[in-house]
Order: sequence, then C-alpha cells, then structure tokens
Amino acid sequence: MISSRITIQPAPLLSVIVPTFKERDNVAELVRRLHLALVGVAWEVIFVDDDSPDGTADAVRALALTDARVRCVQRIGRRGLSSACVEGMLASSAPYLCVMDGDLQHDETILPDMLGRLTGQDLDIVVGSRYVAGGAIGDWTARRAWISRLATRISHLVVPPALHDPMSGFFMLTRPAFTASVRSLSSTGFKILVDLFASSPTPLRFAEVPYTFRSRNAGESKLDNRVAWDYGMLLADKLVGHLIPVRFLSFALIGGAGVGVHFLCLSLLMALGRTDFATAHTMATGLAMLFNFTLNNLLTYRDRRLSGLGWFVGLFWFVLACSIGALANVGIAIYLFKLDGGWPLAALAGIAVGSVWNYVATSALTWKKRSA
Ligand code: GDD
Ligand code: MN
Repeated sequence: MISSRITIQPAPLLSVIVPTFKERDNVAELVRRLHLALVGVAWEVIFVDDDSPDGTADAVRALALTDARVRCVQRIGRRGLSSACVEGMLASSAPYLCVMDGDLQHDETILPDMLGRLTGQDLDIVVGSRYVAGGAIGDWTARRAWISRLATRISHLVVPPALHDPMSGFFMLTRPAFTASVRSLSSTGFKILVDLFASSPTPLRFAEVPYTFRSRNAGESKLDNRVAWDYGMLLADKLVGHLIPVRFLSFALIGGAGVGVHFLCLSLLMALGRTDFATAHTMATGLAMLFNFTLNNLLTYRDRRLSGLGWFVGLFWFVLACSIGALANVGIAIYLFKLDGGWPLAALAGIAVGSVWNYVATSALTWKKRSA
C-alpha cells in the first residue's frame, strides 16, 4: 500500500533566510557551504528574490529540484532587503530563523555556534558581529568603515548601546521574538536588525558572535546613496513615527529644500537683471515644483515611483495640487495676518496648511496607490 510508504517529514528546526538580488553565481556555493556547516541540524534555506534579471530565482529552483531543503520566494515588482527578509521569515514554519546575505560575505561556519547559544541559553537573538573581539570588517575601504561606524553610533538612538553591530545583516532569532515585533516593523531599507531591536515590545535578550566580513567574489553590492536615505527614514520612523507619518516628514524635508532651490533661482535671475520680479518668481516657482516632484518621486514615493508617460501625468497633477496648496497657503496667511498683525505666525500657519494640503492631495492624485 502506498500510504505505508509515506514518510512524514517535520518542518526544519532552522530556516536560513537569504535575500537576493542578482546573485545567480553565488547561490549554489552558498547551499554547498550551508550543507557543510550545518551537519546534524534539520535546516532549510529560503531565498527571497526580487525577480532578479540575471535569473537568480531560476537558479534556486534548479537546485531545489534535487534538494528539498532549498526553497524560493520570488517577488514580482518589489524591491527591498528588509521586506524580503520579513516575508522569508513569514514563509517559514521553523522555530529558529536566521538571516544572511546571499553573496558569501557572511561566515556560515559560525551558524552552529549561533544556534547552540539560541537553543541553550535564555536568548531571543544572536548577532553575527564584526565589532566584538575576534570579529573584523575585512578589506573595507576607509570610507565605508567610517560610514559603518557612524551609522552604528547613530543607531544607538533606537537600539541598546551594548549591541556592538546593529548594522549587521547576519543574525539568528527565535520565532516568538520575530512574531512579537513583526507588526511594528518599518521594513524599509537595508537595516532589518535595527528595525527588529527598535520594534520589539520588550528588550531583546541578545548575544554577539564574532566573524570576519568576507569580500565578494561574484556580483556587486547594492549599497547606494538611497540606502542612507532609507536608514534615516527608518530611524525617524522609530523615533517619531507614532506622531508624524514618516512619508510626510520626507515630503516636508524635500519641500524645505525646494524653498532653498526657489530662492537660489530667484536671486540668480534677479542678479542677472534681465527679468522682472514677477517673471523671475514664476520661473523659480516652476523650478522648485519640478525639483520637489522629482525628489519626492525618487525618495518619498520610491515604492510607487512613476516613470515614462506616468511621470508627465504625475507632474501635471502635482503642479495642479500644489497650485491649489499655494492659494490656500497665501489665503490663510493673509487672513491671519489681518486678524492680529503678527506676520511670522500667519506665514507659518499658511505654510503648514499648504504643506499638509499638498501632501494629502498629491498622495491621492499623483502617487495614488494602485488597487491590487
Ligand atoms: N530580495 C532583495 N531585494 N535582496 C536584496 C536587495 C533587494 O532589493 N538588495 C540587496 N539584496 C541582497 C543582496 O543580493 C545580498 O544577498 C544581500 O541582500 C546584501 O546586499 P549587498 O548589496 O551585498 O549589501 P552589502 O554587502 O553592501 O551590505 C551588507 O553588509 C552590511 C554590513 O555592513 C548587508 O548584509 C547589510 O544588511 C549589512 O548591514
Ligand atoms: Mn554584500
């Protein structure tokens, strides 16, 4: 009888979650190394790939055909290291979860030690650390080392100072610890560990295991300037997100920079002396709107970014919405100014109402959420 031959296989003890973007040439080697490192442990590896154009997901599925410990979650039309890790963990049933890079830069030989500590001690999370005795950053440039140290220092606004390497993307945690914070995670950007520590309802009990960050052999790093912006937004969300939506904060910051662009353009045109004030002011307003639209499209709404024809349609709605915002701004400021004569307060109130209007109107008109 068939049924007598069915063997029931329980879920693995450990899921290794590996976010990937363009790592085709690294996945087979990573699986081979996990196999060697995790002898005697029931494990699986879940690659969460954001539809890499190099066919990483296909490479993973090809491996999975001969090794059921290998799984693939392929996300279409999505990007993001942190959110990939979160969704990988949600796709697993294992009681212990590990996150590691797919480019072989993290040292898989410390995995048994990390698991041993997590199962044997009263801990929620074990962090692979470059900044404790025995750990090292490998052959980083002085610039990157400096940036990492600075980011680490700033992170201590929201994570315990005793944690030496909150920037690490290499850690292992218990499922209850993950479940407790999953609904509070920001899930933006690269820094999932900072997010976990800052979102946990109770302080995480942690240990750090040293390792040396290896250099990459295949593919390239996806770390860029936007990662720094995302990191700032993650910290802002953790610090003030319960008071102000972080998207509004980003919108307002860019709006502030737009005022700078406006004045720069205006003073330049006035200094040249070929245009009258009204023309110069109109041109400066146009440039500032273009600046605001472009930056908001790149940063504030990077998850709903407009391109091609949509970019022009979006710009049209943006200019329309912001023109109404400007009218409201001026109207309210004049009204308040007439009431009690204090111009700074009247101006501020006008700006506040105008900004909130612009934010609400453009989020509904320009970057409206597509219904799925
Ligand atoms: N799914 C998905 N989506 N994966 C991504 C994305 C994305 O948008 N961007 C990057 N990854 C994957 C990469 O393919 C790689 O496996 C891993 O995330 C880390 O990306 P790298 O581009 O190699 O980052 P890094 O080496 O510069 O930075 C790493 O080291 C830092 C330590 O300073 C990351 O692990 C960071 O998390 C870590 O903090
Ligand atoms: Mn890397």
